[in-house]
Amino acid sequence: MSSVPSRESVRRYYDSVTTRKLRDFVDGNARVERAWETIRSRAPLEPQRTLEIGCGVGQLSWQMRRHWPHSEVTALDISPRSIELARSLFGPERIEFVTGRLEEVDLAPTFDLITMVDVYEHIAQPDRAPLHAALGRLMSPTSRLVLTFPTPRFLRWLREHDPANIQPIDEAIEIQTIEALARDTRTSILLYAEQSVWHNGDYAHAVLGREPDLGHVPRKEPQSRRAMVARSLGDAGRVVASRILPWQRNDPRAQRLTLLRERLGYTYDDIAR
Ligand SMILES: C[S@@+](CC[C@H](N)C(=O)[O-])C[C@H]1O[C@@H](n2cnc3c(N)ncnc32)[C@H](O)[C@@H]1O
Repeated sequence: MSSVPSRESVRRYYDSVTTRKLRDFVDGNARVERAWETIRSRAPLEPQRTLEIGCGVGQLSWQMRRHWPHSEVTALDISPRSIELARSLFGPERIEFVTGRLEEVDLAPTFDLITMVDVYEHIAQPDRAPLHAALGRLMSPTSRLVLTFPTPRFLRWLREHDPANIQPIDEAIEIQTIEALARDTRTSILLYAEQSVWHNGDYAHAVLGREPDLGHVPRKEPQSRRAMVARSLGDAGRVVASRILPWQRNDPRAQRLTLLRERLGYTYDDIAR
């Protein structure tokens, strides 16, 4: 059995990949956008308190803050460099960024929405029990926990075909693992659905909560023009969309680049490599 990498080496790894995360923020990342669709449609209506675990440079917290302007957003990550960048970029939006592991920081009392977007598979197995206990304490009867992670077969495919993209801890998350998480947090699995982001069935989304998911009608939001063009034209469309859309006045990419320049002093060249 392979040994668990040290916490310090895991932190160093995530500190070293922040430039890629900034690029994802500016250029968009289909995996994160798909996660956002599930978060937005499965969140409790108007969550008052939101927690993002494994926030990286804070992009999703920023999106949640803008989507639910009245929600208090707290975001946590073990990577000090990620949190430093997140604070500089999005701190002015009144998001609280915290460095550390959930089970070791003092957050209270409960959150209406907790998200873990591509984080749970990076938790070492011995760390799951304390994490589950902390999650259980932070959930109220109406909270929702949203998780996204690669499917075990996509992880197998990555190990074989793209091992450079395997992270220091990258566990296969089987449905039984999510069932154990639900048991430990005294929740039910309200959603478990495979997604096809880049490959057929490469990701899974799970939503856990203590109430049956009744009475919640997913809201239909206007799609961004980029998403509509990309969807209508398929793969070729993504290329076309990425060329056309920067010329538009309200292009979110241009806004994101401006934020990067104003708050970090970076240009696109600084993150393009
Ligand atoms: C694959 S990245 C995902 C980042 C972001 N959620 C996204 O989807 O782009 C995993 C993130 O989880 C963080 N992470 C890993 N283990 C963690 C833990 N035990 N607690 C909190 N964050 C953790 C890493 O530092 C990294 O930022």
